[in-house]
Amino acid sequence: MKVLAIGDIVGESGVKKLELELPRIKEEKHIDFVIVNGENAAGGMGINKNNFKGMLKAGANVVTLGNHTWAKKDVFGFINDNQIIRPANYSKGLPGKGYNIFECNGKKIAVINLIGRVDMNVLSENPFQLAKRIIEKINQAVDYIFIDFHAEATAEKIALGRYLDGKVTAVFGTHTHVQTADEQILPNRYRLY
Ligand SMILES: [Fe+2]
Ligand SMILES: [Fe+2]
Repeated sequence: MKVLAIGDIVGESGVKKLELELPRIKEEKHIDFVIVNGENAAGGMGINKNNFKGMLKAGANVVTLGNHTWAKKDVFGFINDNQIIRPANYSKGLPGKGYNIFECNGKKIAVINLIGRVDMNVLSENPFQLAKRIIEKINQAVDYIFIDFHAEATAEKIALGRYLDGKVTAVFGTHTHVQTADEQILPNRYRLY
């Protein structure tokens, strides 16, 4: 199983670039499943229906969000779509869902979206504790678990990776719009159960 995670797509030109490039990349690299962060698709802040449709058309299987989730009110019209998730640790009662489970090549892939708390001006529940609770709930029912941790501080992302080492397939970060390319295989590397 090859999964591609793409960080924040910025603006309509970003969506267009995705439409131009993703089909070729998927084919060349034999990608089975694509996760795209779309929180900046609408003019750099938020997401509208056209952006969402464009990203799906380009080949995204799921669109994740972040601190700009609600920046364009259009989002309320499709936030309950199966292929879009927003940070799970947003305040309870907000529309949408924080994770979803997808079928791909006979396997079940869970994708969880979380938002960080360091230098992130968003009221949110503890992402570490919530991640653990979600994983405990779904782990028997899925084959892979991916987490888009939408956070500012590299340290917070690494801490979540360490905390969930062996419990999820991968944790990756979005939000900074700068690639740190500091991938690591952690000691427990695969899910232990
Ligand atoms: Fe962003
Ligand atoms: Fe962000």
